[in-house]
Amino acid sequence: MAPVTSLTASVHARLSAALTSALPEAAGADPLLRRSDRADYQANGILALAKKAKANPRELATQVVAQIENGGLFADVEVSGPGFLNITVSDKAIVETLAARYADADRLGVAPKDTPGLTVIDYAQPNVAKEMHVGHLRSAVIGDALRGMLDFTGEQTVGRHHIGDWGTQFGMLIQYLIEHPGELAPADEVDGEQAMSNLNRVYKASRAVFDADEEFKERARKRVVALQSGDEETLKLWQQFVDESKVYFHSVFEKLDMEVRDDEIVGESAYNDLMPETARMLEESGVAVRSEGALVVFFDEIRGKDDQPVPLIVQKADGGFGYAASDLSAIRNRVFDLKATDLIYVVDVRQSLHFKMVFETARRAGWLTDEVTAHNMGYGTVLGADGRPFKTREGETVKLEDLLDEAAERATAVVREKAEKVGLTEAEIVENGRYVGIGAVKYADLSTSANRDYKFDLDQMVSLNGDTSVYLQYAYARIQSILRKAGEAGPVAHPEVELAPAERALGLHLDAFGETVFEAAAEYAPHKVAAYLYQLATLLTKFYEHCPVLKADTPAQVENRLFLVDLTARTLTKGMGLLGIRTPEKL
Ligand code: ARG
Repeated sequence: MAPVTSLTASVHARLSAALTSALPEAAGADPLLRRSDRADYQANGILALAKKAKANPRELATQVVAQIENGGLFADVEVSGPGFLNITVSDKAIVETLAARYADADRLGVAPKDTPGLTVIDYAQPNVAKEMHVGHLRSAVIGDALRGMLDFTGEQTVGRHHIGDWGTQFGMLIQYLIEHPGELAPADEVDGEQAMSNLNRVYKASRAVFDADEEFKERARKRVVALQSGDEETLKLWQQFVDESKVYFHSVFEKLDMEVRDDEIVGESAYNDLMPETARMLEESGVAVRSEGALVVFFDEIRGKDDQPVPLIVQKADGGFGYAASDLSAIRNRVFDLKATDLIYVVDVRQSLHFKMVFETARRAGWLTDEVTAHNMGYGTVLGADGRPFKTREGETVKLEDLLDEAAERATAVVREKAEKVGLTEAEIVENGRYVGIGAVKYADLSTSANRDYKFDLDQMVSLNGDTSVYLQYAYARIQSILRKAGEAGPVAHPEVELAPAERALGLHLDAFGETVFEAAAEYAPHKVAAYLYQLATLLTKFYEHCPVLKADTPAQVENRLFLVDLTARTLTKGMGLLGIRTPEKL
């Protein structure tokens, strides 16, 4: 489908051309075009340009207006104040532009970028043999949305789920399993819930023995060495923990209605083979130095308690490698093997110091250059309704599955209330309840900017009023219901029909979808897409207040309004889809 030039871009181009004709030395200058309340757009740039050219701003503005090539795009361009332009586009231009978008059901006329880069997104990275918590939820939800947005812009994306599948705790776990065989069932015989309950049991039991029994502790320590040196039996048992955990992870991701590919689960351990080389390169180049036996990197500007420098530990004194060595090796892999141009890490903001040090080390080593950006998208803490970190009443961390189940339950109750009127079957109630519940959780997360803490408040999340996904999902379903009721009449664009102010406002906003997604993707800001969609639903509500659809004055107006709402529905479902949220047809 042919890409559609947005009204904003067309206005901008015509204005720039007129400006250049009126004042040749201003060629390429920005007319500073903004959406405005007084007209559709305001251009504020002429003032400064006139000043620079020592011209009278109002006179220059008048000359620019005289030079504008209309071509049916403008209904009115007026000089106002000291030299602003108030610009109103024609109804016809709005409808024709939107009709071109409507004709491209898949991309709504939004062209993908010409020269895509390759972004590696590190997200949804839980830890083996451990329960997932709300922090992991944020990483998964934000990462998945970012990926949807970037994919839409034409960027190539590769996911990396850097799961915690390595470390000294495996010595304890594996040793316990050796001494208590059969405690973990084979991974292909359990479902997610059984897998996690088995893992939990083994974790708790092994921890108890570890803490109480010095001899076991020693055997566990030796087991770590066996694991690190690649002992076959030890590795086999380690693999069993990993496989069992993956069964559990997948069950949670499925509950989250999120696709996680097995080939993109590339955990800490995947970089084991690279780590000695990483350390050697850093030591040889002098980026890392030996300090009390350990290999570390120092930073002048990073200091901790008592103004002591905080080093990044690449290799411990006992020769072991840890979290930092794995991340440094992962950078080499992502830059040199995957050929990434951009790296994003969707990780808790509490790890931002770690990433600051890792990125700086990689820069010093020459692995990160100006050609590659690395960004830690650090997200804030999930708080309970009381504003404190989210815990159960007993003070324990809340299980992710319980949370998602509860969200689905609450949402199902909300859906059920209207189910009879809408004509939903029991199966549809349950299915929609799930999408509304999961959508509520995702949207609440995504609609706040990621670096801020956010309140996990289910009552608010499933509320029908306000900035919630349910509100957006209802907006979508209501349009479907209108389209079903339309009978003979269907959505058809009529450029000759005059638009009411509410239609113009809706139309101009619809036209800005692509630009909004591109901007939000470039800034890694899903909340901008959420805000756009909320605004869209709000404009739709205003439109309904002023513009009857099926009872409009003329058949052409009915068709034109059906076309406007249908394009709104397509934009809503596309935008929500980018964020990983579904829009049921009937609610
Ligand atoms: N597994 C870690 C955790 O749960 C997050 C991993 C983040 N990614 C990375 N490349 N370090 O805290």
